[in-house]
Amino acid sequence: MRTAPRARRPALTARYACPSAHIDGALGSPYDAAGINSFGNPVKSMPRKIIIDTDPGQDDAVAILLALASPEDFDVLGIVAVAGNVPLAQNARNALKVVELSGRTEVPVFAGCERPMRRHLVTAEYVHGDTGLDGPDLPAPRLELQPQHGVDFLVDMLMEHPPGTVTLCCLGPLTNIAMAMVKQPAIVDRIKEIVMMGGGCFEGGNVTPAAEFNIYVDPEAADVVLRSGVHIVMAPLDLTHMMQATHERLDRIRALGNRAGQAVFEMLSFSERFDLQKYGSQGAPLHDPCVIAYLIEPGLFQGRHINVTVETASELTMGMTVADYWGVTGRARNVHFLRSGDAAGFYRLITERLARLP
Ligand code: BDR
Ligand code: CA
Repeated sequence: MRTAPRARRPALTARYACPSAHIDGALGSPYDAAGINSFGNPVKSMPRKIIIDTDPGQDDAVAILLALASPEDFDVLGIVAVAGNVPLAQNARNALKVVELSGRTEVPVFAGCERPMRRHLVTAEYVHGDTGLDGPDLPAPRLELQPQHGVDFLVDMLMEHPPGTVTLCCLGPLTNIAMAMVKQPAIVDRIKEIVMMGGGCFEGGNVTPAAEFNIYVDPEAADVVLRSGVHIVMAPLDLTHMMQATHERLDRIRALGNRAGQAVFEMLSFSERFDLQKYGSQGAPLHDPCVIAYLIEPGLFQGRHINVTVETASELTMGMTVADYWGVTGRARNVHFLRSGDAAGFYRLITERLARLP
């Protein structure tokens, strides 16, 4: 058994080096200063430092693979598992499997919180299978979890790096992030931004008529994060339900012919059954990769800066994200709410990047 070294950063190996350098300015990223040199030419920006907080989950796995296949865009400081789709121990094990699948075994994996802040854990084996990552037959991980608690890792990374340089990519319930904010409030002003999958507005909920799963599992954590004052980008169901994994799109991923492409095909072919039956659509929604795709190619997405507040009192609408899309409340805007996106461009990006993996 091997333990991932704690402090090593992902190296840009020939395998991952991209011939066409990603240029933030050229893509019109709203959040990175356009890199223009003194001759007026675009220059390649540094990879963005990110921490991925996740409960893998087939769609989380695709998001992690997309990030790990994109070293010109991301310096992945670590991956932190949280309880959500399945219990924490299984999610953490799944994160290790996905890191091994990517070949990026230098990226450390941590386990965070075992249960939501105030509630019993609600899981979703009925969607993701008993392991949380049913579908492909991935080998038992040889990598081991880091000994440090995931919440302490989040706090340490944010305190060690200069303010405004670390982005949090949140793919599951927000328990770890809220707990880190409670444990060390000084991190709040140091977070560059939080890009999270969660919530919904016009599309309603997916676990109750009102609530989306990630918010429903830990509404108090979502409340802490949404009120924190950190710049938040939200990828809600309104967006992710547009990103349908049709059979043509899945076939193109399988046709890549690599291990990662085959595994993603098998994962999404497993998890689609529940959603296809529920929505009667051509393909299942693909949620969590929207977070990573947004950071790579923000031009694929459209959104609006609005106030979003989470319901934490009413049992009927628990975990509902009350999104003031029309600006009727006068509440301070706290979220860039992604309402729609270019599904063809999204799958083109995923397929291109997965092609780089083993
Ligand atoms: C979210 O819930 C989980 O089941 C998925 O991984 C995604 O993060 C969608 O509601
Ligand atoms: Ca997830």
